[in-house]
Amino acid sequence: MSTQNKDTRPEKVTTQTVVDMKRNGEKISMLTAYDYTMAGIVDAAGVDVILVGDSASNVMAGFDTTVPMTLDHMIYHTSCVVRGVERALVIADLPFMSYQVTTKEALISAGRMMKEAGAHAVKLEGGESITSTIKRIVDAGIPVMGHLGLTPQSIYKFGTYKVRAKDEAEANQLLKDAKKLEEAGVFSIVLEKIPTSLAKQVTESVSVPTIGIGAGSYCDGQVLVIHDMLGLNKDFSPRFLRRYADLHTSMSDAVGEYIKDVKTGDFPNEDEQYN
Ligand code: KIV
Repeated sequence: MSTQNKDTRPEKVTTQTVVDMKRNGEKISMLTAYDYTMAGIVDAAGVDVILVGDSASNVMAGFDTTVPMTLDHMIYHTSCVVRGVERALVIADLPFMSYQVTTKEALISAGRMMKEAGAHAVKLEGGESITSTIKRIVDAGIPVMGHLGLTPQSIYKFGTYKVRAKDEAEANQLLKDAKKLEEAGVFSIVLEKIPTSLAKQVTESVSVPTIGIGAGSYCDGQVLVIHDMLGLNKDFSPRFLRRYADLHTSMSDAVGEYIKDVKTGDFPNEDEQYN
C-alpha cells in the first residue's frame, strides 16, 4: 500500500496515454517483469508499460517454450507485479490455450486476469483469425494488446524462432492482420522479429502504437525481456538485444564472495550479530 499523498503520486499510465504518446511522437518504453521486487524497481525507474509476459515460462520457470504456462501461473505472476507498481500500465499475456478454444473461454480468461490479478490490459497472440475474440473482450471493457510476427505460442507450428514475414505473402498477411486488429479495437500491437521495413509500414498504417522487439527503430515503442537486458541470461544473444548490465557476473561474484566469507568465518563479524 502506498504511503504517498494522493497529490504527489505520479500520474498513472493508461491505455489512452500510450495511444496519445504515438500521436505526440513520444516513444513508449516497455519491459517485462514477473515479480513484486523487479516490478517495483522497473516502475520506480519510470518505464511506461510493464508486460507480464508468458516469457515467464522461459526465464522464471525454466521451460524451453511458452506453451506450458497456465492461466493460474500468469495470474500469480501478474498479481505479484501489480502489487509492486504505482505508475506503469500493467499488461498480462493470456497464455496458450486460454483464449483459442472458444470466445467465451477467452472472455472468462481475460476477466480472471483483470479481477483476480488486477491487470490493466491483456495481450493475445495472433491476427485476423482471433479478431472476433478480441472484439468480444474489448466490448466487455477489457483493453487488448495484439501481438504479430514471431508469436512464440505457435513455436510448434513455425518450428523456429527465426525472423518472420520476410516473404511478400507473409508480409502482406501481417499488414492485413495489423489493420484487422486495429478494427477489432486493440489499443496497441507488439511486432516481434520482423524486418524493419515491414514494421515501419505497419506503424505508419495503423493509428494505435506498435511496440517492437527485434522489429527495428520505426516502431512507436520498444520492449525487451528484463532478464535479457540486465544480462542475467548469458546464453541468449540475439542481434536485437542490447544488454544494459551484466547482472549474471555481478550476482555470481557476490555469491562467490559470500561463500568465501562464510567458509573463512569472516561473516558474520561483530557488527552483524546480537549481544
Ligand atoms: O512474453 C513476452 O515476454 C513477450 C514479449 C517478448 C513481447 O511477449
